[in-house]
Amino acid sequence: MNNNKPSYYLTTPIYYVNGEPHLGTAYTTIAADTLARFKRMQGFDVKFLTGLDEHGQKVADNAAAAGVSPKEWCDRLAPKFTDLWQALNISNDDFIRTTEERHTRAVQRFYEAMQEGGYLRKDTYKGWYCVHEETFYTDEELHQAGHADDHLCPDCGRPLEFDEEENLFFKLSEFEQPLLDFYAAHSDFIQPETRRNEVLSFVKGGLKDLSVSRTSFDWGVPIPFAEGHVSYVWFDALINYLTAVGYGDPDSQAAAEFARRWPAQVHFVGKDIIRFHCVIWPAMLMAAGLPVPERVFAHGFLLTKGEKMSKSRGNAMSPTDLCALLGGGLLPDGSLPPAGVDAYRYYFLSDVQFGADGQISLERMLQVYNADLANSWGNLVSRVLSMTKKYFEGKVPETAVGIDNSLAQIAAGLYDKVSQAMDAIDYSGACAAVMELVDAANGYIENEAPWALAKAGDAAKLAQVMYALLESVRLIALYFAAIMPSTSADVWGRLDLSDVTKADLKAESAWGLLPAGNQTKVGQPLFQRLKESDVL
Ligand code: MSP
Repeated sequence: MNNNKPSYYLTTPIYYVNGEPHLGTAYTTIAADTLARFKRMQGFDVKFLTGLDEHGQKVADNAAAAGVSPKEWCDRLAPKFTDLWQALNISNDDFIRTTEERHTRAVQRFYEAMQEGGYLRKDTYKGWYCVHEETFYTDEELHQAGHADDHLCPDCGRPLEFDEEENLFFKLSEFEQPLLDFYAAHSDFIQPETRRNEVLSFVKGGLKDLSVSRTSFDWGVPIPFAEGHVSYVWFDALINYLTAVGYGDPDSQAAAEFARRWPAQVHFVGKDIIRFHCVIWPAMLMAAGLPVPERVFAHGFLLTKGEKMSKSRGNAMSPTDLCALLGGGLLPDGSLPPAGVDAYRYYFLSDVQFGADGQISLERMLQVYNADLANSWGNLVSRVLSMTKKYFEGKVPETAVGIDNSLAQIAAGLYDKVSQAMDAIDYSGACAAVMELVDAANGYIENEAPWALAKAGDAAKLAQVMYALLESVRLIALYFAAIMPSTSADVWGRLDLSDVTKADLKAESAWGLLPAGNQTKVGQPLFQRLKESDVL
Protein backbone atom coordinates (compact mmCIF):
# COMPACT_ATOMS: atom_id res chain seq x y z
CA MET A 1 0.00 0.00 0.00
CA ASN A 2 1.34 3.43 -0.87
CA ASN A 3 -0.36 6.20 1.05
CA ASN A 4 1.13 9.00 -1.03
CA LYS A 5 -0.86 8.02 -4.06
CA PRO A 6 -4.56 8.77 -4.31
CA SER A 7 -6.78 5.74 -3.87
CA TYR A 8 -8.84 4.43 -6.79
CA TYR A 9 -11.25 1.70 -5.78
CA LEU A 10 -13.21 -0.15 -8.43
CA THR A 11 -15.30 -3.30 -8.43
CA THR A 12 -17.11 -5.83 -10.58
CA PRO A 13 -20.34 -7.45 -9.42
CA ILE A 14 -19.67 -10.57 -7.41
CA TYR A 15 -20.84 -13.45 -9.56
CA TYR A 16 -23.23 -16.18 -8.48
CA VAL A 17 -21.58 -19.55 -8.11
CA ASN A 18 -24.48 -21.23 -9.82
CA GLY A 19 -22.53 -22.01 -12.93
CA GLU A 20 -19.27 -21.44 -14.73
CA PRO A 21 -18.05 -18.02 -15.77
CA HIS A 22 -19.01 -17.14 -19.34
CA LEU A 23 -18.67 -14.45 -22.00
CA GLY A 24 -20.92 -12.06 -20.06
CA THR A 25 -19.14 -12.27 -16.73
CA ALA A 26 -15.77 -12.17 -18.49
CA TYR A 27 -16.87 -9.01 -20.29
CA THR A 28 -17.55 -7.08 -17.08
CA THR A 29 -14.34 -8.37 -15.55
CA ILE A 30 -12.14 -7.45 -18.52
CA ALA A 31 -13.70 -4.01 -18.68
CA ALA A 32 -12.99 -3.35 -15.01
CA ASP A 33 -9.49 -4.77 -15.36
CA THR A 34 -8.70 -2.36 -18.17
CA LEU A 35 -9.60 0.68 -16.10
CA ALA A 36 -7.73 -0.74 -13.09
CA ARG A 37 -4.57 -1.16 -15.19
CA PHE A 38 -4.93 2.27 -16.73
CA LYS A 39 -5.40 3.99 -13.38
CA ARG A 40 -2.36 2.17 -11.94
CA MET A 41 -0.31 3.47 -14.87
CA GLN A 42 -1.62 6.94 -14.08
CA GLY A 43 -0.16 6.68 -10.59
CA PHE A 44 -3.26 5.83 -8.56
CA ASP A 45 -3.14 3.38 -5.69
CA VAL A 46 -5.70 1.04 -7.23
CA LYS A 47 -7.76 -1.52 -5.43
CA PHE A 48 -9.58 -3.70 -7.94
CA LEU A 49 -12.07 -6.11 -6.42
CA THR A 50 -13.98 -9.02 -7.86
CA GLY A 51 -15.38 -12.16 -6.26
CA LEU A 52 -18.27 -14.52 -5.72
CA ASP A 53 -21.79 -14.29 -4.38
CA GLU A 54 -22.09 -17.56 -2.50
CA HIS A 55 -25.24 -17.30 -0.39
CA GLY A 56 -28.92 -17.39 -1.27
CA GLN A 57 -31.56 -19.85 -2.20
CA LYS A 58 -30.31 -20.43 -5.74
CA VAL A 59 -26.89 -21.61 -4.56
CA ALA A 60 -28.47 -23.72 -1.81
CA ASP A 61 -30.82 -25.32 -4.37
CA ASN A 62 -28.00 -26.01 -6.85
CA ALA A 63 -25.89 -27.60 -4.14
CA ALA A 64 -28.79 -29.76 -2.99
CA ALA A 65 -29.41 -30.89 -6.57
CA ALA A 66 -25.75 -31.88 -6.83
CA GLY A 67 -25.97 -33.70 -3.49
CA VAL A 68 -23.33 -31.61 -1.72
CA SER A 69 -23.38 -28.96 1.00
CA PRO A 70 -23.62 -25.35 -0.17
CA LYS A 71 -20.07 -24.65 1.01
CA GLU A 72 -18.70 -27.68 -0.85
CA TRP A 73 -20.54 -26.53 -3.95
CA CYS A 74 -18.97 -23.06 -3.69
CA ASP A 75 -15.50 -24.48 -3.06
CA ARG A 76 -15.87 -26.67 -6.12
CA LEU A 77 -16.87 -23.80 -8.40
CA ALA A 78 -14.70 -20.97 -7.07
CA PRO A 79 -11.51 -22.15 -8.86
CA LYS A 80 -13.33 -22.00 -12.21
CA PHE A 81 -13.58 -18.25 -11.71
CA THR A 82 -10.13 -17.64 -10.25
CA ASP A 83 -8.52 -19.79 -12.98
CA LEU A 84 -10.31 -17.99 -15.77
CA TRP A 85 -9.47 -14.56 -14.39
CA GLN A 86 -5.83 -15.55 -14.19
CA ALA A 87 -5.91 -16.87 -17.75
CA LEU A 88 -7.49 -13.63 -18.98
CA ASN A 89 -4.78 -11.61 -17.25
CA ILE A 90 -7.17 -10.03 -14.76
CA SER A 91 -5.19 -7.97 -12.26
CA ASN A 92 -7.61 -7.98 -9.32
CA ASP A 93 -6.03 -7.07 -5.99
CA ASP A 94 -8.55 -9.00 -3.95
CA PHE A 95 -11.04 -11.79 -4.52
CA ILE A 96 -13.91 -11.85 -2.10
CA ARG A 97 -16.15 -14.80 -1.32
CA THR A 98 -19.22 -13.97 0.72
CA THR A 99 -18.78 -17.06 2.84
CA GLU A 100 -15.57 -15.64 4.31
CA GLU A 101 -15.40 -14.71 7.97
CA ARG A 102 -14.46 -11.07 7.20
CA HIS A 103 -17.69 -10.76 5.25
CA THR A 104 -19.96 -12.29 7.89
CA ARG A 105 -18.59 -9.74 10.35
CA ALA A 106 -19.21 -6.84 7.94
CA VAL A 107 -22.76 -7.92 7.10
CA GLN A 108 -23.62 -8.28 10.77
CA ARG A 109 -22.15 -4.88 11.55
CA PHE A 110 -24.11 -3.35 8.68
CA TYR A 111 -27.44 -4.81 9.83
CA GLU A 112 -26.71 -3.49 13.32
CA ALA A 113 -26.07 -0.02 11.89
CA MET A 114 -29.40 -0.10 10.01
CA GLN A 115 -31.13 -1.31 13.16
CA GLU A 116 -29.51 1.42 15.29
CA GLY A 117 -30.67 4.01 12.76
CA GLY A 118 -34.24 2.75 13.07
CA TYR A 119 -34.40 1.62 9.45
CA LEU A 120 -35.52 -1.96 10.05
CA ARG A 121 -38.92 -3.25 11.14
CA LYS A 122 -40.39 -6.73 11.54
CA ASP A 123 -43.38 -7.71 9.48
CA THR A 124 -44.89 -10.66 7.71
CA TYR A 125 -43.88 -10.96 4.10
CA LYS A 126 -46.53 -12.35 1.83
CA GLY A 127 -45.67 -12.33 -1.80
CA TRP A 128 -43.77 -13.75 -4.68
CA TYR A 129 -40.11 -14.63 -4.99
CA CYS A 130 -37.96 -15.56 -7.98
CA VAL A 131 -35.15 -17.83 -6.90
CA HIS A 132 -33.22 -17.35 -10.13
CA GLU A 133 -33.22 -13.55 -9.83
CA GLU A 134 -33.21 -13.68 -6.01
CA THR A 135 -35.85 -10.97 -6.18
CA PHE A 136 -39.24 -10.29 -4.55
CA TYR A 137 -42.24 -9.20 -6.60
CA THR A 138 -45.45 -7.61 -5.34
CA ASP A 139 -48.87 -8.45 -6.74
CA GLU A 140 -48.94 -4.99 -8.21
CA GLU A 141 -45.64 -5.50 -10.05
CA LEU A 142 -46.90 -8.81 -11.43
CA HIS A 143 -50.10 -7.16 -12.51
CA GLN A 144 -48.22 -4.41 -14.32
CA ALA A 145 -45.99 -6.95 -16.04
CA GLY A 146 -48.99 -9.03 -17.16
CA HIS A 147 -48.13 -11.97 -14.89
CA ALA A 148 -50.86 -11.59 -12.26
CA ASP A 149 -52.41 -14.91 -13.33
CA ASP A 150 -49.55 -17.13 -14.45
CA HIS A 151 -47.15 -15.95 -11.70
CA LEU A 152 -44.10 -16.03 -13.90
CA CYS A 153 -41.07 -13.88 -13.15
CA PRO A 154 -41.31 -10.55 -15.02
CA ASP A 155 -37.52 -10.62 -15.56
CA CYS A 156 -36.61 -14.21 -16.42
CA GLY A 157 -39.99 -15.84 -17.07
CA ARG A 158 -39.47 -18.68 -14.59
CA PRO A 159 -42.28 -19.73 -12.22
CA LEU A 160 -42.34 -17.71 -8.99
CA GLU A 161 -42.64 -19.15 -5.48
CA PHE A 162 -45.17 -17.87 -3.01
CA ASP A 163 -43.61 -16.92 0.30
CA GLU A 164 -45.17 -16.13 3.62
CA GLU A 165 -42.77 -15.64 6.47
CA GLU A 166 -41.71 -13.23 9.17
CA ASN A 167 -39.06 -10.91 7.75
CA LEU A 168 -37.15 -7.81 8.59
CA PHE A 169 -38.10 -4.95 6.31
CA PHE A 170 -35.78 -2.16 5.26
CA LYS A 171 -37.58 1.19 5.19
CA LEU A 172 -36.67 1.94 1.61
CA SER A 173 -39.79 4.08 1.23
CA GLU A 174 -38.16 6.74 3.42
CA PHE A 175 -35.37 7.21 0.87
CA GLU A 176 -37.33 8.36 -2.14
CA GLN A 177 -36.59 12.06 -1.68
CA PRO A 178 -33.03 11.61 -0.32
CA LEU A 179 -32.23 9.51 -3.40
CA LEU A 180 -33.73 12.05 -5.81
CA ASP A 181 -31.75 14.79 -4.07
CA PHE A 182 -28.62 12.69 -4.30
CA TYR A 183 -29.05 12.03 -8.03
CA ALA A 184 -29.65 15.73 -8.61
CA ALA A 185 -26.48 16.68 -6.74
CA HIS A 186 -24.37 13.92 -8.36
CA SER A 187 -25.19 13.93 -12.03
CA ASP A 188 -22.34 11.50 -12.78
CA PHE A 189 -23.49 8.85 -10.33
CA ILE A 190 -25.39 6.73 -12.85
CA GLN A 191 -23.88 6.20 -16.27
CA PRO A 192 -24.65 6.05 -19.12
CA GLU A 193 -27.40 8.66 -19.35
CA THR A 194 -30.10 6.21 -20.48
CA ARG A 195 -29.67 4.23 -17.28
CA ARG A 196 -29.84 7.39 -15.22
CA ASN A 197 -33.19 8.26 -16.75
CA GLU A 198 -34.45 4.75 -16.15
CA VAL A 199 -33.50 4.89 -12.47
CA LEU A 200 -34.95 8.38 -11.97
CA SER A 201 -38.34 7.41 -13.32
CA PHE A 202 -38.34 4.23 -11.24
CA VAL A 203 -37.68 6.14 -8.02
CA LYS A 204 -40.17 8.86 -8.90
CA GLY A 205 -42.74 6.08 -9.26
CA GLY A 206 -42.47 5.48 -5.51
CA LEU A 207 -40.47 3.08 -3.35
CA LYS A 208 -41.78 0.35 -1.10
CA ASP A 209 -40.15 -1.14 1.99
CA LEU A 210 -38.10 -4.17 1.15
CA SER A 211 -37.90 -7.55 2.84
CA VAL A 212 -34.25 -8.03 3.83
CA SER A 213 -34.15 -11.23 5.82
CA ARG A 214 -35.32 -14.81 5.36
CA THR A 215 -36.55 -17.25 8.00
CA SER A 216 -37.56 -20.13 5.74
CA PHE A 217 -34.02 -21.23 4.94
CA ASP A 218 -30.57 -20.69 6.45
CA TRP A 219 -27.92 -20.35 3.72
CA GLY A 220 -27.04 -16.75 4.55
CA VAL A 221 -25.46 -14.57 7.22
CA PRO A 222 -27.28 -14.86 10.57
CA ILE A 223 -28.66 -11.55 11.75
CA PRO A 224 -27.33 -11.07 15.29
CA PHE A 225 -30.39 -9.40 16.82
CA ALA A 226 -33.05 -11.48 15.06
CA GLU A 227 -33.05 -15.15 15.99
CA GLY A 228 -33.64 -17.44 13.01
CA HIS A 229 -33.20 -14.71 10.39
CA VAL A 230 -30.51 -14.76 7.73
CA SER A 231 -29.67 -11.81 5.50
CA TYR A 232 -31.35 -11.34 2.12
CA VAL A 233 -28.75 -12.39 -0.43
CA TRP A 234 -28.74 -9.08 -2.31
CA PHE A 235 -28.01 -7.11 0.88
CA ASP A 236 -25.32 -9.59 1.77
CA ALA A 237 -23.87 -9.28 -1.75
CA LEU A 238 -23.82 -5.49 -1.95
CA ILE A 239 -22.07 -5.22 1.39
CA ASN A 240 -19.07 -7.07 -0.13
CA TYR A 241 -17.87 -3.74 -1.51
CA LEU A 242 -17.46 -2.51 2.08
CA THR A 243 -16.02 -5.74 3.49
CA ALA A 244 -13.10 -5.72 1.10
CA VAL A 245 -11.89 -2.33 2.31
CA GLY A 246 -12.08 -3.15 6.01
CA TYR A 247 -15.64 -2.34 7.07
CA GLY A 248 -16.63 -4.11 10.27
CA ASP A 249 -13.05 -5.08 11.07
CA PRO A 250 -12.19 -3.87 14.60
CA ASP A 251 -8.49 -3.56 13.74
CA SER A 252 -7.34 0.09 13.62
CA GLN A 253 -5.39 -0.43 10.38
CA ALA A 254 -8.56 -1.70 8.76
CA ALA A 255 -10.36 1.45 9.90
CA ALA A 256 -7.65 3.58 8.30
CA GLU A 257 -7.88 1.55 5.10
CA PHE A 258 -11.65 2.01 5.07
CA ALA A 259 -11.36 5.76 5.54
CA ARG A 260 -8.87 5.98 2.69
CA ARG A 261 -10.69 3.69 0.24
CA TRP A 262 -14.37 4.41 0.76
CA PRO A 263 -16.38 5.60 -1.10
CA ALA A 264 -15.49 3.57 -4.20
CA GLN A 265 -14.75 5.40 -7.42
CA VAL A 266 -16.70 3.06 -9.69
CA HIS A 267 -18.86 -0.03 -9.58
CA PHE A 268 -18.98 -1.84 -12.93
CA VAL A 269 -22.32 -3.62 -13.38
CA GLY A 270 -24.47 -5.02 -16.16
CA LYS A 271 -27.69 -3.17 -16.93
CA ASP A 272 -29.68 -6.02 -15.36
CA ILE A 273 -28.61 -5.09 -11.84
CA ILE A 274 -28.82 -1.33 -12.02
CA ARG A 275 -31.70 -0.94 -9.52
CA PHE A 276 -29.83 -2.86 -6.87
CA HIS A 277 -26.76 -0.66 -7.33
CA CYS A 278 -28.37 2.71 -7.97
CA VAL A 279 -31.46 2.61 -5.76
CA ILE A 280 -31.14 0.03 -3.00
CA TRP A 281 -27.39 0.32 -2.44
CA PRO A 282 -27.23 4.11 -1.98
CA ALA A 283 -30.30 3.95 0.29
CA MET A 284 -28.63 1.23 2.38
CA LEU A 285 -25.49 3.32 2.69
CA MET A 286 -27.46 6.40 3.70
CA ALA A 287 -29.25 4.31 6.34
CA ALA A 288 -25.93 3.12 7.73
CA GLY A 289 -24.51 6.65 7.67
CA LEU A 290 -21.91 5.91 5.00
CA PRO A 291 -20.98 7.84 1.86
CA VAL A 292 -22.29 6.69 -1.52
CA PRO A 293 -19.86 5.62 -4.30
CA GLU A 294 -18.92 8.13 -6.97
CA ARG A 295 -20.15 6.23 -9.99
CA VAL A 296 -22.03 3.17 -11.15
CA PHE A 297 -21.43 2.35 -14.81
CA ALA A 298 -23.88 -0.10 -16.38
CA HIS A 299 -22.81 -1.83 -19.54
CA GLY A 300 -25.17 -3.54 -21.97
CA PHE A 301 -25.61 -7.16 -22.93
CA LEU A 302 -23.63 -9.18 -25.39
CA LEU A 303 -26.08 -10.62 -27.84
CA THR A 304 -25.56 -13.52 -30.17
CA LYS A 305 -29.16 -14.20 -31.02
CA GLY A 306 -29.88 -14.39 -34.69
CA GLU A 307 -26.20 -14.67 -35.49
CA LYS A 308 -24.12 -17.72 -35.56
CA MET A 309 -21.12 -17.69 -33.29
CA SER A 310 -19.73 -20.89 -34.68
CA LYS A 311 -20.78 -23.20 -37.46
CA SER A 312 -20.00 -26.22 -35.39
CA ARG A 313 -20.62 -25.23 -31.81
CA GLY A 314 -23.67 -22.99 -31.76
CA ASN A 315 -23.15 -19.80 -29.80
CA ALA A 316 -22.05 -21.40 -26.58
CA MET A 317 -18.39 -20.56 -26.99
CA SER A 318 -16.43 -20.08 -23.83
CA PRO A 319 -13.93 -17.27 -23.28
CA THR A 320 -11.08 -19.79 -23.29
CA ASP A 321 -12.21 -21.33 -26.61
CA LEU A 322 -12.24 -17.90 -28.19
CA CYS A 323 -8.82 -16.93 -26.84
CA ALA A 324 -7.39 -20.19 -28.13
CA LEU A 325 -8.96 -19.68 -31.57
CA LEU A 326 -7.66 -16.14 -31.90
CA GLY A 327 -4.23 -17.08 -30.64
CA GLY A 328 -3.77 -20.03 -32.97
CA GLY A 329 -4.37 -22.77 -30.38
CA LEU A 330 -3.33 -23.58 -26.84
CA LEU A 331 0.33 -23.50 -25.86
CA PRO A 332 2.09 -26.85 -25.41
CA ASP A 333 1.56 -26.67 -21.63
CA GLY A 334 -2.17 -26.23 -22.16
CA SER A 335 -2.26 -22.55 -21.24
CA LEU A 336 -3.87 -19.84 -23.35
CA PRO A 337 -1.76 -18.04 -25.97
CA PRO A 338 -1.11 -14.51 -24.61
CA ALA A 339 -1.78 -12.87 -27.98
CA GLY A 340 -5.12 -14.70 -28.18
CA VAL A 341 -6.10 -13.38 -24.75
CA ASP A 342 -5.13 -9.85 -25.79
CA ALA A 343 -7.05 -10.15 -29.05
CA TYR A 344 -10.11 -11.35 -27.16
CA ARG A 345 -9.89 -8.40 -24.78
CA TYR A 346 -9.39 -5.98 -27.68
CA TYR A 347 -12.37 -7.28 -29.63
CA PHE A 348 -14.88 -6.89 -26.81
CA LEU A 349 -13.55 -3.52 -25.71
CA SER A 350 -13.08 -1.93 -29.13
CA ASP A 351 -16.02 -3.28 -31.07
CA VAL A 352 -18.82 -3.10 -28.49
CA GLN A 353 -19.62 0.45 -27.37
CA PHE A 354 -19.35 0.16 -23.60
CA GLY A 355 -22.76 0.94 -22.15
CA ALA A 356 -24.78 -0.25 -25.14
CA ASP A 357 -25.85 -3.76 -26.11
CA GLY A 358 -23.48 -5.38 -28.57
CA GLN A 359 -24.07 -7.94 -31.28
CA ILE A 360 -21.10 -10.22 -31.27
CA SER A 361 -20.12 -12.83 -33.81
CA LEU A 362 -17.14 -14.89 -34.82
CA GLU A 363 -17.21 -13.34 -38.28
CA ARG A 364 -16.89 -9.87 -36.82
CA MET A 365 -14.27 -10.99 -34.34
CA LEU A 366 -12.16 -12.34 -37.20
CA GLN A 367 -12.62 -9.16 -39.20
CA VAL A 368 -11.55 -6.88 -36.33
CA TYR A 369 -8.66 -9.18 -35.47
CA ASN A 370 -7.24 -9.22 -38.96
CA ALA A 371 -7.86 -5.56 -39.75
CA ASP A 372 -6.73 -3.91 -36.51
CA LEU A 373 -4.36 -6.36 -34.92
CA ALA A 374 -2.74 -8.59 -37.56
CA ASN A 375 -2.65 -6.20 -40.52
CA SER A 376 -2.27 -2.87 -38.75
CA TRP A 377 -0.69 -2.99 -35.31
CA GLY A 378 1.13 -6.31 -35.60
CA ASN A 379 2.31 -5.56 -39.11
CA LEU A 380 3.62 -2.15 -38.04
CA VAL A 381 5.72 -3.75 -35.32
CA SER A 382 7.15 -6.32 -37.73
CA ARG A 383 8.00 -3.83 -40.43
CA VAL A 384 9.58 -1.30 -38.12
CA LEU A 385 11.69 -3.84 -36.25
CA SER A 386 12.76 -5.62 -39.44
CA MET A 387 13.87 -2.37 -41.03
CA THR A 388 15.72 -1.38 -37.86
CA LYS A 389 17.56 -4.67 -38.06
CA LYS A 390 18.32 -4.24 -41.73
CA TYR A 391 19.45 -0.62 -41.70
CA PHE A 392 20.87 -0.21 -38.18
CA GLU A 393 21.78 -3.72 -37.05
CA GLY A 394 18.80 -3.55 -34.71
CA LYS A 395 20.04 -0.49 -32.81
CA VAL A 396 17.75 2.48 -32.22
CA PRO A 397 19.44 5.15 -34.38
CA GLU A 398 20.96 8.32 -33.00
CA THR A 399 19.12 11.35 -34.36
CA ALA A 400 18.02 14.82 -33.46
CA VAL A 401 14.64 14.17 -31.86
CA GLY A 402 12.42 16.81 -33.40
CA ILE A 403 8.69 16.94 -33.05
CA ASP A 404 8.38 18.30 -36.54
CA ASN A 405 6.93 15.16 -37.98
CA SER A 406 3.33 14.08 -38.36
CA LEU A 407 3.65 11.12 -36.00
CA ALA A 408 5.00 13.22 -33.15
CA GLN A 409 2.13 15.61 -33.63
CA ILE A 410 -0.48 12.88 -33.33
CA ALA A 411 1.34 11.44 -30.34
CA ALA A 412 1.35 14.83 -28.62
CA GLY A 413 -2.43 14.82 -28.26
CA LEU A 414 -2.77 11.18 -27.41
CA TYR A 415 -2.36 11.24 -23.64
CA ASP A 416 -5.30 13.61 -23.20
CA LYS A 417 -7.45 11.83 -25.75
CA VAL A 418 -6.92 8.37 -24.32
CA SER A 419 -7.23 9.52 -20.70
CA GLN A 420 -10.47 11.34 -21.40
CA ALA A 421 -11.90 8.29 -23.14
CA MET A 422 -10.80 6.02 -20.30
CA ASP A 423 -12.27 8.33 -17.68
CA ALA A 424 -15.54 8.29 -19.57
CA ILE A 425 -15.21 4.46 -19.76
CA ASP A 426 -15.36 4.73 -23.52
CA TYR A 427 -13.08 1.89 -24.49
CA SER A 428 -13.90 1.94 -28.17
CA GLY A 429 -13.01 5.64 -28.17
CA ALA A 430 -9.69 4.91 -26.47
CA CYS A 431 -8.89 2.11 -28.94
CA ALA A 432 -9.79 4.30 -31.91
CA ALA A 433 -7.51 7.08 -30.65
CA VAL A 434 -4.54 4.70 -30.42
CA MET A 435 -5.37 3.11 -33.78
CA GLU A 436 -5.07 6.59 -35.34
CA LEU A 437 -1.37 6.54 -34.53
CA VAL A 438 -1.06 2.95 -35.80
CA ASP A 439 -2.65 3.91 -39.12
CA ALA A 440 -0.63 7.10 -39.38
CA ALA A 441 2.60 5.17 -38.75
CA ASN A 442 1.77 2.61 -41.43
CA GLY A 443 0.99 5.47 -43.81
CA TYR A 444 4.25 7.20 -42.84
CA ILE A 445 6.22 4.11 -43.89
CA GLU A 446 4.64 4.26 -47.33
CA ASN A 447 5.19 8.01 -47.68
CA GLU A 448 8.73 8.17 -46.36
CA ALA A 449 9.80 4.88 -47.98
CA PRO A 450 12.81 4.07 -45.77
CA TRP A 451 14.05 1.58 -48.40
CA ALA A 452 14.38 4.44 -50.89
CA LEU A 453 16.26 6.58 -48.34
CA ALA A 454 18.62 3.67 -47.72
CA LYS A 455 19.16 3.19 -51.40
CA ALA A 456 19.86 6.88 -51.88
CA GLY A 457 22.33 6.79 -48.98
CA ASP A 458 20.42 9.47 -47.02
CA ALA A 459 21.53 8.17 -43.61
CA ALA A 460 20.46 11.23 -41.63
CA LYS A 461 16.91 11.22 -42.96
CA LEU A 462 16.68 7.44 -42.64
CA ALA A 463 17.65 7.71 -38.98
CA GLN A 464 15.01 10.37 -38.39
CA VAL A 465 12.29 8.37 -40.10
CA MET A 466 13.14 5.13 -38.35
CA TYR A 467 13.37 6.84 -35.00
CA ALA A 468 9.91 8.37 -35.46
CA LEU A 469 8.55 4.93 -36.28
CA LEU A 470 10.22 3.19 -33.35
CA GLU A 471 9.04 5.91 -31.03
CA SER A 472 5.49 5.51 -32.33
CA VAL A 473 5.67 1.77 -31.69
CA ARG A 474 6.84 2.46 -28.13
CA LEU A 475 3.93 4.85 -27.52
CA ILE A 476 1.27 2.64 -29.09
CA ALA A 477 2.33 -0.26 -26.89
CA LEU A 478 2.24 2.09 -23.90
CA TYR A 479 -1.34 3.19 -24.58
CA PHE A 480 -2.48 -0.32 -25.42
CA ALA A 481 -0.95 -1.77 -22.24
CA ALA A 482 -4.14 -1.55 -20.18
CA ILE A 483 -6.15 -3.25 -22.92
CA MET A 484 -3.59 -5.74 -24.25
CA PRO A 485 -1.04 -6.18 -21.46
CA SER A 486 0.89 -9.18 -22.79
CA THR A 487 1.56 -8.00 -26.32
CA SER A 488 2.41 -4.50 -25.12
CA ALA A 489 4.92 -5.94 -22.66
CA ASP A 490 6.29 -8.08 -25.48
CA VAL A 491 6.78 -5.01 -27.70
CA TRP A 492 8.52 -3.04 -24.97
CA GLY A 493 10.78 -6.04 -24.43
CA ARG A 494 11.67 -6.04 -28.12
CA LEU A 495 12.55 -2.35 -27.83
CA ASP A 496 14.90 -3.20 -24.96
CA LEU A 497 12.64 -1.38 -22.47
CA SER A 498 11.36 -2.38 -19.03
CA ASP A 499 7.90 -3.71 -18.10
CA VAL A 500 5.36 -1.45 -19.77
CA THR A 501 2.55 -2.51 -17.44
CA LYS A 502 4.41 -0.80 -14.60
CA ALA A 503 5.23 2.33 -16.56
CA ASP A 504 4.24 5.84 -15.49
CA LEU A 505 1.88 6.65 -18.33
CA LYS A 506 2.10 10.42 -18.22
CA ALA A 507 5.89 10.56 -17.90
CA GLU A 508 6.35 7.98 -20.65
CA SER A 509 3.95 9.71 -23.00
CA ALA A 510 6.50 12.37 -23.97
CA TRP A 511 7.96 12.11 -27.46
CA GLY A 512 11.60 11.12 -27.81
CA LEU A 513 12.18 8.96 -24.76
CA LEU A 514 13.30 5.83 -26.61
CA PRO A 515 17.05 5.76 -25.93
CA ALA A 516 19.31 5.70 -28.97
CA GLY A 517 21.48 2.61 -28.94
CA ASN A 518 18.82 0.28 -27.51
CA GLN A 519 19.23 -3.14 -29.09
CA THR A 520 15.90 -4.18 -30.61
CA LYS A 521 14.71 -7.67 -31.54
CA VAL A 522 12.42 -8.56 -34.43
CA GLY A 523 10.65 -11.56 -32.88
CA GLN A 524 7.63 -13.48 -34.15
CA PRO A 525 4.57 -11.71 -35.59
CA LEU A 526 2.59 -10.27 -32.68
CA PHE A 527 -0.71 -11.44 -34.16
CA GLN A 528 -0.74 -14.18 -36.79
CA ARG A 529 -3.13 -13.43 -39.62
CA LEU A 530 -6.16 -15.76 -39.41
CA LYS A 531 -8.06 -17.30 -42.29
CA GLU A 532 -11.80 -17.89 -42.15
CA SER A 533 -11.17 -21.60 -42.06
CA ASP A 534 -9.09 -21.19 -38.88
CA VAL A 535 -12.06 -19.81 -37.00
CA LEU A 536 -15.42 -20.40 -38.64
N1 MSP B 1 -24.61 -11.91 -7.80
C1 MSP B 1 -25.24 -10.86 -8.50
C2 MSP B 1 -24.44 -9.58 -8.40
C3 MSP B 1 -24.20 -9.10 -7.01
S1 MSP B 1 -23.21 -7.68 -6.99
C4 MSP B 1 -23.31 -7.08 -5.48
C5 MSP B 1 -25.35 -11.25 -9.97
N2 MSP B 1 -24.51 -12.18 -10.40
S2 MSP B 1 -24.45 -12.80 -11.88
O1 MSP B 1 -23.56 -13.92 -11.82
O2 MSP B 1 -25.75 -13.02 -12.40
O3 MSP B 1 -23.67 -11.76 -12.74
C6 MSP B 1 -24.33 -10.72 -13.28
C7 MSP B 1 -23.39 -9.87 -14.11
O4 MSP B 1 -22.75 -10.62 -15.17
C8 MSP B 1 -24.18 -8.84 -14.86
O5 MSP B 1 -24.48 -7.71 -14.13
C9 MSP B 1 -23.25 -8.52 -15.96
O6 MSP B 1 -22.27 -7.71 -15.40
C10 MSP B 1 -22.67 -9.87 -16.34
N3 MSP B 1 -23.43 -10.53 -17.41
C11 MSP B 1 -24.11 -11.71 -17.36
N4 MSP B 1 -24.61 -12.00 -18.61
C12 MSP B 1 -24.30 -11.04 -19.49
C13 MSP B 1 -24.41 -10.86 -20.89
N5 MSP B 1 -25.03 -11.69 -21.70
N6 MSP B 1 -23.80 -9.78 -21.43
C14 MSP B 1 -23.06 -8.93 -20.67
N7 MSP B 1 -22.93 -9.08 -19.37
C15 MSP B 1 -23.71 -9.99 -18.68
O7 MSP B 1 -26.18 -10.67 -10.65
